[in-house]
Amino acid sequence: MKAILPVAGYGTRLRPHTDKIQKTLLPIAGKATLDHIVEPLLDSGVSEITFIIGHLGDQVVSHMKKHTGRFVYIEQKERLGLGHAVLQGLADKDEPVLVQLGDTIFDINLDDMRAPDRNIIAVGEVDDPSRFGIVELEGKRITRFHEKVKNPPSNLAITGLYYFYSQRKLKRAIEQLIARDIRTKGEYQITDAFSIMLEQGELFEAYLMDEWYDTGVPETYLETNRKLLKPDHDEYPGTLINEPVHIGKGCTIERSVIGPFVTVMDNCTLIDCNISDSIILEGAALEGQKFSHRIVAGDGSEYC
Ligand code: G1P
Repeated sequence: MKAILPVAGYGTRLRPHTDKIQKTLLPIAGKATLDHIVEPLLDSGVSEITFIIGHLGDQVVSHMKKHTGRFVYIEQKERLGLGHAVLQGLADKDEPVLVQLGDTIFDINLDDMRAPDRNIIAVGEVDDPSRFGIVELEGKRITRFHEKVKNPPSNLAITGLYYFYSQRKLKRAIEQLIARDIRTKGEYQITDAFSIMLEQGELFEAYLMDEWYDTGVPETYLETNRKLLKPDHDEYPGTLINEPVHIGKGCTIERSVIGPFVTVMDNCTLIDCNISDSIILEGAALEGQKFSHRIVAGDGSEYC
């Protein structure tokens, strides 16, 4: 089965870091978000991944060189929304496709996201449903979709993993959405194409999940780092490490307290620092700093 990964967006909610690093390449627990997404897809037998690239797309292409598989890159020339992005990767074939958003990590058995005659949408309960696409259910069957509405009729959010049994059917629905110029918040939303498919009698089933890992905003990005971190580092004499902590290659760390919940990427220098619950991007050099709950850029000067 083929998978489509839309990774074209600007990642505005993680600026300024995403001005220089494509959002899906920001590290979590020692590796890029994209690695956490691509590895399970390849392990589960996905035969081809089509990346919809745009903002800093060349970074995605060069990052993927470390993985082995059949990868296709398609540029989304205009940022017209998620529906428009996914459309770029769809073939006019009655073959299935999996779509996964580039800022969400899942830990599920992907065999559950397959069916011969219906579409499956991963959903989960959230506290702030107006920030998401929302579904209404009868049993497991989805009866209505809503994209980011003020008073959502349920708190069951679309989490960012979708299975379609026919690429052609989804393609036709997104093309109709664009022909009819149906936009939500100015963009062609994939969720709105599902409403068209429902009208046409297509079946959608919900796959209810308890836990998934979102990286879209600083809060959830740091929370995902906390949840996925496992101890992985050398020892640094004179420095106290409170697990879990990941420290990459080529780092110099002296007279510091690091952790808990800290990812330090490669080639960082930390001297006389006390850091917890944070992500330090590659190449940062920090001296005499004490902080918690921050994302620090490689030049050490930018904070979220
Ligand atoms: C997108 C989808 C939305 C979904 C969300 C999950 O929104 O449009 O339906 O609930 O991803 O993260 P975005 O977060 O890109 O605004």
